[in-house]
Amino acid sequence: MSRVLRDSYGRVADDLRISVTDRCNFRCIYCMPAEGLRWLARDDILSFEEIHRLARIFVQRYGVRTIRLTGGEPLVRVRIEELVAMIHRLDPDLDITMTTNGVLLRQKARLLKEAGLKRVNVSLDTLHLDRFRDIARRDAFARTMDGIEAAAEAGLWPIKLNMVVMKGVNDDEVVDFARLARERGFEVRFIEFMPLDGDHIWSNDLVVPSRRIQEQIEDQFPLVPVPSRRPGPSVNYRFADGASGGIGFISSVSQAFCTTCNRIRLTAEGGLRTCLFSLRETPLRDLLRSGASDDDLARVIERAVWLKEEGHLINQEGFVRPAKSMSQIGG
Ligand code: 5AD
Ligand code: SF4
Repeated sequence: MSRVLRDSYGRVADDLRISVTDRCNFRCIYCMPAEGLRWLARDDILSFEEIHRLARIFVQRYGVRTIRLTGGEPLVRVRIEELVAMIHRLDPDLDITMTTNGVLLRQKARLLKEAGLKRVNVSLDTLHLDRFRDIARRDAFARTMDGIEAAAEAGLWPIKLNMVVMKGVNDDEVVDFARLARERGFEVRFIEFMPLDGDHIWSNDLVVPSRRIQEQIEDQFPLVPVPSRRPGPSVNYRFADGASGGIGFISSVSQAFCTTCNRIRLTAEGGLRTCLFSLRETPLRDLLRSGASDDDLARVIERAVWLKEEGHLINQEGFVRPAKSMSQIGG
């Protein structure tokens, strides 16, 4: 019988996000500086064996059911499909997903599917080629769109598209994204811009509250709420006229969902983070490498989760930005 990972506020952590690399082949303005960041050394990031061992503990001891692989860009980690297969073998029913920028999906989608990946979330912030170049700072619009096609062809379905909405940058495209969802059966997730960008350009003025986005979309396409089995970060809707696809809003800034947060994160260097905005993390790598037993690791993990912070304070007195950017934490 597995126990659960409970924190001192009564929340159960059963959704584990594993960052497999801090590197990325894009430089999205809401995430990374144009010149990139100082990458971790190879030896400092967890090996597949180390990640697999931790995943096994989370799955077998604590009943974690969802594992999401993130980065940086997870597909730049060499032979990532082998890690997917290793985790899949722990339990074929595990919900293994990946958040990717999509540019390498044409090469990888089929291999990932065969290895046991269930679905992908592809980050896509614009449907215009020139604007894509401005946001991702890479000329990769066509390859990214083709990557999304490849994922659909491989059966990594339903495909979710993550759009980080920034005022004056891409907020004029939210209705176009809703239309794309309808036409192609995609699930679009509109994400509020959070203060986790490498350039420190975040300000509340750049945030478009989900309410505003929803109003614009409903002018054209009325929406019906999709009741969720459990309250999650994403509040989801389908189209009232019965069109395929759907949309959801992740209102991290305007409506924090911390009270129901079931997520924990493992960074590429093996740090356990209980919140995106954690100011400290629990390093597991050195413990792993010093011959610790599963019981030793489990004790440290249980303690860290127990101490999970109540929530973040964006826009409130006392908010302190974490030193790490999104790519160093893992979305
Ligand atoms: N605010 C909100 N979302 C972000 N992402 C990256 N940086 C930010 C930010 N500052 C998103 C990416 C990706 C997911 C992992 O997080 O678009 O889809
Ligand atoms: Fe790379 Fe994702 Fe950050 Fe963009 S948001 S720079 S694709 S890690």
